Amino acid sequence: MKARILKLLQEASDQYISGQSLCEMLGVSRQAVWKNIGQLKEMGYEIVSVSGKGYRLVSTPDCLYAPEIQSFLPENGFCKKVECHVEIDSTNLRAKQLAEIGEPEGILVVADKQTLGRGRRGRGWISEAGVGIYMSYILRPSLPPAKVSGVTLVTALAVCRAISQVCGVQPLIKWPNDIILEGKKVCGILTEMSSEIQYVRYAVTGIGINANQTKFAQDIRESATSIYQQTGKRVPRAKLVAAFAKSFGEYYEIFEHDGDLRSLVDEYDRILANRDKEVLVYHGMVEDAKPEDIARGVARGINKDGSLLVEIDGTLQVIRSGEVSIRGVNGYVE
Ligand code: BTN
Repeated sequence: MKARILKLLQEASDQYISGQSLCEMLGVSRQAVWKNIGQLKEMGYEIVSVSGKGYRLVSTPDCLYAPEIQSFLPENGFCKKVECHVEIDSTNLRAKQLAEIGEPEGILVVADKQTLGRGRRGRGWISEAGVGIYMSYILRPSLPPAKVSGVTLVTALAVCRAISQVCGVQPLIKWPNDIILEGKKVCGILTEMSSEIQYVRYAVTGIGINANQTKFAQDIRESATSIYQQTGKRVPRAKLVAAFAKSFGEYYEIFEHDGDLRSLVDEYDRILANRDKEVLVYHGMVEDAKPEDIARGVARGINKDGSLLVEIDGTLQVIRSGEVSIRGVNGYVE
C-alpha cells in the first residue's frame, strides 16, 4: 500500500490529492491511508496535509526503501519484487540463496551496506552505508551457459541508460564489466551463474554503483569516482535503482529473444570507452603479467557474442570476456 500511496503522490507532483481520492483509488479506509502516511512521515518522507486540500509529497529521504523503488516501476514489468536490506553480507550471495530455493527471475535484492561485498577475481567491493548502491538481480535465462556472459554487457547498457536518465551525465563502458565517468570507475558488475553442461539453473547479476561517495580508500583513489563527485549533485538512489531495474528488463528481453547481442551492438559501441583506442590485452592477472602475456592493439567494438574485436598486427582478433583484462596503454582506460 505504501508503494501505491507514494506512486499517487509522486504522480500528483506538486498538487494535493484529497484523502477521499486516495481512499477511492486504493480501495481502503481513510484510517488506513492516514496510518500509512504517518508511517511514511516517520521514515522521513515529507508529506504535508492541508485540511480541505489533502496530501502533498514535498521531499523524500535518500534511503533504499522497497515501496519507494517499486513506486517508480511499472506494474507487470520485468522486476517482480524488490527486497531491500539495511545491511547484508552480499546482495549476490542473497540473490543466489533465493534462486537456490526456487525464487523466480526478476527479483532485485538491494542493500544500503554490504559487509562482504564481492568484486571480480576474488577481490572485495567496499560497500559503505548511505552512499553507494549495491544490488543483484535473479535471472533464469533460457540460453545455453556459454551465452550468459552477455548478461554483463546487458547490465552495463542498463546502468549507463539509468545514470544518464536520472543523473544527466553519459557514462561509458570499459568492456566488459566497468562503467566509467571521466576515465574513472563509477560502477562494477559481477555476474555469476549456476549451471549444468547444457542448462543454466540461474544467473545473478550484481551491480555496485558509486553514487554519493565523497572519498575513496587510498588504493582505489586514483581509479575510482562517484556520480556525485562528477556532477556535484546528490544522486536520488531509489530513483536510480528503479531506472536501472526497468532498463535492465527492457534490454534483457531483447537479448533473451535474439539469443545474443545483435540488436544491441551499435548502442553498446557508441558508449564503449575503448573504441578505436589503443589497448593492452592481458591474458591472466594484470598485476603479475609477464610481457609475453600482454598484446597491444586497437579496440574496434564488440560482436554479437559480446566479445571485443581488437586489431592486433593488422588482423581483427576476437577477445572473449572472462579470459582477459583490458587496459589503456597509459592507464586504466586510455
Ligand atoms: C568488480 O569487481 O568490478 C565487480 C564489483 C561488483 C560489486 C557488486 S555490489 C552488489 C553485488 N554484491 C556483491 O557482493 N558484489 C556485487
